[in-house]
Amino acid sequence: MTSWLSGTTISAPFTIGSGVVATAPSVLARLAREIPQLGFVTTKTLSLLPREGYREPIIYEYYPGCFINAVGLANPGAAAFVRDIAPHLPLHNNKPLVASIMGENPDEFVACAKILDPVASAFELNLSCPHVKGAGQSVGSDPEAVKTIIQLMKKTFPKPVIAKLSPNLGDIATSAQLCERAGADGLSLINTVGPGLILDDAGIPILSNEVGGMSGRGILPIGLKAVRDVARVAHIPIIASGGIASPCDVRAYQRAGASFFSVGSALAGKNTQQLISFFQYLAQGIDPSTPLRSPESPDQREGLLTAYTKTTVLRNSPAADDLFVLDLADARPCNPGSFFFLRIPGVGEKPFSPMSHNPHRYLIRAVGPFTKRCQALQTGDEIYLRGPYGNGFPEPPLSRPLVLIAGGTGAAPLIMAAARWQRQVGRMFIGFSKEIQAHFKRELERTVARVRVVVDAPGEVGAILSELAHDMRSEKILYRNCVAFLCGPRRMTGAAVALLLDAVPRSRIFVAREDLMRCGIGLCGSCATEHGLRSCIDGPVFPLEYEQP
Ligand SMILES: Cc1cc2nc3c(=O)[nH]c(=O)nc-3n(C[C@H](O)[C@H](O)[C@H](O)COP(=O)(O)OP(=O)(O)OC[C@H]3O[C@@H](n4cnc5c(N)ncnc54)[C@H](O)[C@@H]3O)c2cc1C
Ligand SMILES: Cc1cc2nc3c(=O)[nH]c(=O)nc-3n(C[C@H](O)[C@H](O)[C@H](O)COP(=O)(O)O)c2cc1C
Repeated sequence: MTSWLSGTTISAPFTIGSGVVATAPSVLARLAREIPQLGFVTTKTLSLLPREGYREPIIYEYYPGCFINAVGLANPGAAAFVRDIAPHLPLHNNKPLVASIMGENPDEFVACAKILDPVASAFELNLSCPHVKGAGQSVGSDPEAVKTIIQLMKKTFPKPVIAKLSPNLGDIATSAQLCERAGADGLSLINTVGPGLILDDAGIPILSNEVGGMSGRGILPIGLKAVRDVARVAHIPIIASGGIASPCDVRAYQRAGASFFSVGSALAGKNTQQLISFFQYLAQGIDPSTPLRSPESPDQREGLLTAYTKTTVLRNSPAADDLFVLDLADARPCNPGSFFFLRIPGVGEKPFSPMSHNPHRYLIRAVGPFTKRCQALQTGDEIYLRGPYGNGFPEPPLSRPLVLIAGGTGAAPLIMAAARWQRQVGRMFIGFSKEIQAHFKRELERTVARVRVVVDAPGEVGAILSELAHDMRSEKILYRNCVAFLCGPRRMTGAAVALLLDAVPRSRIFVAREDLMRCGIGLCGSCATEHGLRSCIDGPVFPLEYEQP
């Protein structure tokens, strides 16, 4: 047990850094429950009003373990957070919930904290984000403003207040002393460093915001120096963050003067099970009397998580007014249901599941800026690709027939599944809500085994469901024995699952989700599911147990 800022005790001295992994209430609550080493949990920085943040790319790994990010403090706003976290409270073992907050001035900090007060055990003041105009580091660089914010917070709330400081602003030890004198109960050191810039091979910034904060291994020495310099002059506890990736790093921060340890970028690419073992591994660093054996990290990985490959467009063929098939000169293998990010420099990047990998073929609906730009791509144009990400559908047992049910562009991963397990396909349905071109329909019917392409008549929805219900009545043995894979709009997959459950056991139904994925490496948390998993890294294919509570 470790004593915490409020005088209570906590199970262990770790937290996950604000804005990393546990950004959604469901994930935060799940990790608080499943990771005993997390003594307290920290929210994403929350603001008075919702913030959209920047468009993708938002995170990039430029050397192994070294990241640059500009998420833009995207968050749903304090009131929405309170509403969404409420069903998850109290957290497992009453773990303290630290609300990270931002503001452009002292009143905004206090107004935001007032909304969060009913759910927060403590407040962490973000005085240090390096890439957001008018907040974070810009407020933190004004000593008078910092003093007023802390004094006002302490006067208004009888709760611990932690100041999260930046190493970018001159003398961090002097800033820390100022915070302590103003009444801060703890210091969180350090936020990301910078802003910095990473360019692609054509000299174009990778991040959509162009510049971003640096985190991970590369900033460990900066964090250690900040903690040591501050510990020499301050008398309040320090939460260390910056590049913690091994028990040795934990021990080093401890020796520099930290009491608590906040882990961020090292969690990139780790699914929920891997996070659990990673914190067990890190915890070996806590007891100063235990010699460190420098054990290997449980999930050593090779290569960069976000490395792009440049490729070219082979063909771009229309399939409907807003639907097209994009063939790329890349043949990287992947599992049906896994996905890639496509990037067009200066436009952005978005995730897509290929419908075949040799060559890479995508079925894309033009819905917004990125996909509309893709629709205009021509043979020979360059495009970047990163991936594959995600688990993909499981190999179906040889003894079982496959039933595949797809809606719209959700057809892509299931067309790949139909080709991979061609001999097992018992039935495939592909539903479209709008007319598709006759040649595209013919091609699907010619190339995909036992497929039925169903297009809604004008004014009608879900024609695929009545076809499925009819088929289930006439092919009882097929459905009783099958494994079913689904992908498409959630209303469609939900309704199809409800029908399937009459014949197919839950354990044999798998759904590929297309949640809002912004980084693809499990760091930003935007694709959190209701069950506290991150769809990009724990999925996107989930057994039904995880799909419907
Ligand atoms: C794993 C995965 C696989 C995908 N595969 C395909 C595919 O094969 N073909 C295809 O056309 N699209 C696919 N998508 C969806 C595609 O990534 C989005 O439509 C993309 O955001 C479009 O970018 P845009 O800039 O054109 O539009 P945006 O401006 O990003 O989006 C337009 C509108 O759609 C909303 N939106 C975007 N993505 C989602 C989402 N995942 N969930 C809910 N709302 C969303 C936005 O909030 C916005 O209102 C996939 C998504 C995921 C996560
Ligand atoms: C993707 C990402 C988002 C972040 N968002 C926030 C945030 O909202 N608020 C904040 O105070 N720090 C934020 N940070 C900083 C981290 O909490 C942490 O202080 C920093 O990354 C250093 O730790 P690390 O090297 O272990 O990642 C973010 C970092 C990353 C990588």
